[in-house]
Order: sequence, then C-alpha cells, then structure tokens
Amino acid sequence: MVTVGIDALEIHTGKLALDLGETFAPAQGEDPDKYRKGLGLYASSFPDAHEDIVTMGANAAYRLLKRKGLEPADIGRIDVATESAFDNSKPVSTYIAGCLEQVFDSNFHHANKGERKFACIAGTQSLDDAYNWIRAGRNRGRSALVIATDTALYARGDAGEATQGAGAVAMLISEDPSLLELSPEQGFGSADETDFLKPNQQFPSVDGKRSVQVYLARMREALSDFESVSGSMHPDDFAYVPFHTPFPGMVRKAALLGYRHIIRETPIEAELASEIGRQPRPEAFDDESTYLDAVREYTDELKTTDRYQQWYEATIEPTLSISRSVGNWYTGSVHIARASALKHARETDRQLTGKRLLVASYGSGAQAEIHAETVQSGWQEEIESLTIDEQLDMRHDISFEEYERIHDVHNHDLSASDVDSFTEPADEFIFDGWGEMGERQYTYVE
Ligand code: CAA
Repeated sequence: MVTVGIDALEIHTGKLALDLGETFAPAQGEDPDKYRKGLGLYASSFPDAHEDIVTMGANAAYRLLKRKGLEPADIGRIDVATESAFDNSKPVSTYIAGCLEQVFDSNFHHANKGERKFACIAGTQSLDDAYNWIRAGRNRGRSALVIATDTALYARGDAGEATQGAGAVAMLISEDPSLLELSPEQGFGSADETDFLKPNQQFPSVDGKRSVQVYLARMREALSDFESVSGSMHPDDFAYVPFHTPFPGMVRKAALLGYRHIIRETPIEAELASEIGRQPRPEAFDDESTYLDAVREYTDELKTTDRYQQWYEATIEPTLSISRSVGNWYTGSVHIARASALKHARETDRQLTGKRLLVASYGSGAQAEIHAETVQSGWQEEIESLTIDEQLDMRHDISFEEYERIHDVHNHDLSASDVDSFTEPADEFIFDGWGEMGERQYTYVE
C-alpha cells in the first residue's frame, strides 16, 4: 500500500507581537504569572494592517512551493481550513490561488479548491480529505496543498483575549512523503455542543470554563475510539503527543487525562500503586459524584509522580514551544504543536525516523480526533528549512495603545482601515484594498 502523509510544511506568523506579561498584564491589572504560568503563554502574534488570513496562507504556501521546486500543475487540490473566513460563498482557497497565480507563470485551474469548517479541527480534517483523495487514486500523481490560517481574535474584555494569535501553516500532502506518514486508524469523539461558536459574527461567543470541560470530554471519547482500532497503547509508544493548543495550560490538563487513561490496567498503574494507589473504578462507588471526586484525587497525585513528570517533560513539553510565543492559531494550532516537537528533536539530535507521534486535534462545537503519524527519513532536512525562529525574532513588538488600534483594524464591524502598517512589507503578499463587488484584493510586494 502506498504511504501517504505530510511531505513538507511551512509556517507564517503574524508580524506583530503583544507581550502578555510586560504589556497586556499591566493594562488588565493582572499578575503576569496568570498568563506566563497559568495559561503558559508569553506573547500573542497579530497580523499587521496589511495582513489577513489570505496573505498569511499565501505567504506560507508560496514559500513551500518555491522550496520544493513545485509548479501549479503539481497541485491537484487546495483546501483551506479556517474559522476566520470573511465570505459565505467564495472560498479563501480561491483568493490564495489567485495570489499565487500572480507569482507563477501558470495557474491552478485544474486544482479542486475548497474550504473546511469545523472550528480548530478543520485543519486536521483537511489533511484527512487530502489523504483520502490520494488513497482513492484520484490525485493523478499530484499533491494536495492544505492551508490552516486564522486570525484568532476575541472581543476586547473577553477572557479569551489573552489567548489570541494569528498565523498560517501550509502543508503538502503527497505519496511517499518525506516528513510523516498518517495512520489509517483514527478515533473520534463528537457531540453537539455550544462551548464556542461564531453565529454570523466575527468574534466568538465563548463559555470559556465549559469549553475546557468539553475539550477534555471529547478527547477522552476520541482516545477510547482510537484504542478500539489501534489496540491498547503504552505511553512510551509515542515520541511526542502534539495536542490542539489553545494555550499550553489546556494541554497540561489534557495530557494528564490522556496519560491516566492509557496506563489503566497496565504495569505502569501497578508500579505506581504503592505510591498513589490504583485508579478508582466506578463499580467500587455508590454514586457518580463520589467516584469523580476519587478520580480527581488520584489524578492530582498522578501529576506529582516522577514517572508522569518525566513522561510529560519528554513527550508533551517540547510540543508547546511555538505556541508559548504566538498564542492560539485555531486551525493551525495542532500543526504548530507538531512542528515544535520536530524542531525539538532536531535541536537535541534525537533520532526520530520510524518513531511515532500521537496527534490529538480538537474543534469546538465539538469534535476531537486522534490519529498516529510515523516519522519518515527526510524529516531532519524538512525541519531544518523552517524559518519560524527568524520570523519570531523579526516581529514588531506593539505597545498596548498600538494593540488597541490593530485589534480595531481586524474587527470587521469597524472601519479602521486608515491604520498604517507597523512593518515594511517585502517579498510578501499584502491586502491592498476592496474591489467593486466587496472582494478583498491582494498584491505581491517585492
Ligand atoms: N500565577 C500562576 N497561575 C495563575 C495565576 C497567577 N498569578 N492566576 C491565575 N492562574 C492560573 C489559574 O489557576 C488557572 O490555572 P488552572 O486552570 O490550572 O487552575 C489559569 O491560570 C487560568 O486562570 P483563570 O482560569 O482564572 O483564567 P480565565 O478564567 O481568565 O481564563 C479561560 C481561562 C476561560 C480558559 C480563557 O482563557 C478563555 O475563555 N479562553 C478561550 C476559550 C479556550 O481557549 N478554551 C479552551 C478549550 S476550547 C478550544 O480549545 C477551542 C479553541 O481553540 C478556542
């Protein structure tokens, strides 16, 4: 069977940075540690005045195609995953293809284009669609371009404001990939939930505390479903476990839940029993609430064990490095978690070829998906090509007053288009105004 997966990827961060501890916290009258230690975030990335979901996606995609020496004819499918779309009919992928056609001599007229929506999980769903298209033999030797792009902005004063971010991840999905092979096995946890939604509005309506519980509940279901097809798992089966990361504090909770689930009925649970006892079993309790209290108590103790902490440090912590500096990128978030892990492996000379990742995606509304990925032999070369560290260093740090202005620029309900860019555009696609039919227009700046 032909292997299918991620052949290459590129990341584009919004070009502005808001320091949460130094700039945001004082303006909110909050302790900087609430953001740095509690949420686990140091900074948010924001799009400059000339950036939006199209420019960020097109810039990531252009770098990817150029680096891989590809032409439009090599691409049979362009899917954009976003929850920040500005048009209910024309997909963002057509805008991005239009941008790319300004810089290539040929066009994407024979590529199937679409837009995927299911909150933050849509990026992973687009990977699944590309995988299925290639597996079905409909790709005619061509690759799929999947772009996850978002401006994850909240209304001013919303609790989610500290978790904002903006950026894009472009991924090339191909036969015989250089980077990662996707597993055919998948697990899903899905239910009709109203934890986070955008009913024809730009900024989300969020029940933040509930959204955390819904994330954990759907993730638990997805894990059980995945185990039903993959067989039972051991925590050491996976080199890294990248989670959807709205903020690293969320992953702290999800990883602990996942670990507790996976070690059930294993020698690890037995080894830990002398220290913290065995996991509570529902049949040993008269009612659910006493059982859940006992589970909480066990989980709190599990978190303090050396065994768990070593696993967390090796398997989870390395997935959080980019997220800490950029915030939530919605559809791109799990994909930057994966990239952080692979960067860590390269920086620490870890041998990864043939090792597996367990990738845990989530979208509000709500659905979780778990699948596995196997690292391919070209991974080091691919990861060495990433420029995300340089991009992060080049970001323009904004003051709180500048933050307020740029937030208004990206609030579609306000007409604040007279704000000048903070950075000088170069070698990139920019938003440069509106057309007669209300369409957004773009130019490539040399
Ligand atoms: N020092 C250290 N830690 C501190 C602290 C301090 N001075 N002050 C607070 N903290 C800790 C708190 O104890 C808390 O940690 P725990 O959760 O481990 O207890 C953490 O910092 C956050 O503090 P609060 O819970 O008080 O923060 P909040 O209520 O202001 O905001 C939130 C939290 C509701 C999740 C908010 O960030 C939010 O609404 N976010 C948007 C929704 C979201 O991201 N939900 C996640 C799941 S849904 C999803 O994943 C989809 C998606 O992408 C949106």
